[in-house]
Amino acid sequence: MSETSQVHPDYNYKVVRQFTIMTVVWGIIGMSLGVLIAAQLFAPALNFDIPWLTYSRLRPLHTNAVIFAFGGSALFATSYYIVQRTSQVRLFSDKLAAFTFWGWQAVIVAAVVTLPLGYTSSKEYAELEWPIDILITLVWVAYIINFFGTLVIRKTSHIYVANWFLGAFMLTVAVLHIGNSMVIPVTFGKSYPIYAGAVDAMMQWWYGHNAVGFFLTAGFLGMMYYFVPKQAGRPVYSYRLSIVHFWALISLYIWAGPHHLHYTALPDWTQSLGMAMSIILFVPSWGGMINGIMTLSGAWHKLRTDPILRFLIVSLSFYGMSTFEGPMMAIKTVNALSHYTDWTVGHVHSGALGWVAMVTIGSVYHLVPILFGQPKMYSTKLINVHFWLATIGVVLYIVAMWMSGVLQGLMWRAVNADGTLTYSFVESLEASKPFYIVRFIGGLFVVAGMLIMAYNCYRTIRAPKESIVENTATAAA
Ligand code: HEM
Ligand code: HEM
Repeated sequence: MSETSQVHPDYNYKVVRQFTIMTVVWGIIGMSLGVLIAAQLFAPALNFDIPWLTYSRLRPLHTNAVIFAFGGSALFATSYYIVQRTSQVRLFSDKLAAFTFWGWQAVIVAAVVTLPLGYTSSKEYAELEWPIDILITLVWVAYIINFFGTLVIRKTSHIYVANWFLGAFMLTVAVLHIGNSMVIPVTFGKSYPIYAGAVDAMMQWWYGHNAVGFFLTAGFLGMMYYFVPKQAGRPVYSYRLSIVHFWALISLYIWAGPHHLHYTALPDWTQSLGMAMSIILFVPSWGGMINGIMTLSGAWHKLRTDPILRFLIVSLSFYGMSTFEGPMMAIKTVNALSHYTDWTVGHVHSGALGWVAMVTIGSVYHLVPILFGQPKMYSTKLINVHFWLATIGVVLYIVAMWMSGVLQGLMWRAVNADGTLTYSFVESLEASKPFYIVRFIGGLFVVAGMLIMAYNCYRTIRAPKESIVENTATAAA
């Protein structure tokens, strides 16, 4: 069956197209912001003395833009696509779908306006103030109704495993968002959490870690479970493994939050529990990685010619790397070195850029021709160029941060014979500078790749009408 023959007249592809295009747009904006703040760390004058452009305001804008605008749009696009394709039925409600698209874009625009103006709840990854939080809740509930509504009216007997991950991601994110955003509003732009002290910290990192576990992991595993088999043209390696690692993953992730709060006022036993759960979490994480990579059994040769598949498989390798590194960093004695250093930032981006962005990019390259009625992307060569720019960029980024992080950790803990510190903080900052420049260059590579992707998508979408007609005709025949 050719790709174009998969265009099903009864599916709602409009909302998938809208979210897919915005994935690329927000990806470019969010990652460019990352490059700007990366540059500010070695050239602070790049804030031009304008309050809106200060590092402290642009950093949360970067994280919100890449996680919720780029990652979120990708998850909306792919989940709406996957649930229709695997349920063999149109979305439950077109109106709700349109509401989630415009509502989510409104949330992002509100973030783009309020964060540079300095409005923030000061909770990481939950910085947006309460009116925006309420809008997020409304959009999310509409999303859940639409997704599960589609599953309810499905024409297939079973629920494909990708939907299990996507459903878990949606439900858990709802609980996390509502739980962590409980505040008492003071004005339209200011509120205070209902939790206090250590309880507030624990709520925040219960949310924060599971934002990683469910938003950046379970959701993207759902994406992986659909697009890897599709692109490889092979069935999932093991359905049994997918179900076992699904239940293990979701039941373990929820306990691991305290590893963000080692050596803090949090009760010691909760820290140890978080550490233990994080170490065990390694197993189901690798279950997913192995299942994804082994799906290529018998189709390894395709990696030589298919750069889309390469994106997907390299993303799984980064997933494996970051979920090996995470459990290690959760061990208290390792965390004593890594915490507060660039090692964490390196870990974050091996997950966020290596895994999340690359699996998204591969999936978008798979989707765009199907959504716009073309047999394939405009240029496979350009996908290949993007692949290498992205891979080299991510490696430069994370290797630089590992080196800088370990260096910082070691310099901060070095003491002289008389008990005084060997290095001042500023000395460690100076030592980090070359690595910041390398990270900036890595970021430029990644953004250059995204721009090439935008061009390639544009040319695919705008390709001569005749070719679309011709292919559809062939497919119909
Ligand atoms: C061109 C690509 C990117 C560049 C250059 C970049 C750069 C940066 C920089 C400079 C920081 C601040 C680090 C610090 O405060 O020391 C940061 C933080 C962060 N970025 Fe990115 N980033 C990129 C892509 C992404 C993507 C695609 C994601 C997620 C999908 C992401 C997620 C994050 C997160 C979660 C943090 C906060 C890390 C922490 O608090 O430890 N970034 N990024
Ligand atoms: C088994 C899986 C994982 C475990 C056990 C784990 C563990 C950890 C640990 C111990 C930290 C450092 C906490 C600190 O010192 O402050 C951390 C930070 C982080 N990890 Fe992971 N990690 C895992 C997978 C991932 C993946 C796949 C991603 C991204 C897709 C990710 C994103 C992050 C982020 C964003 C932070 C920084 C949070 C912050 O301080 O702002 N992690 N993780």
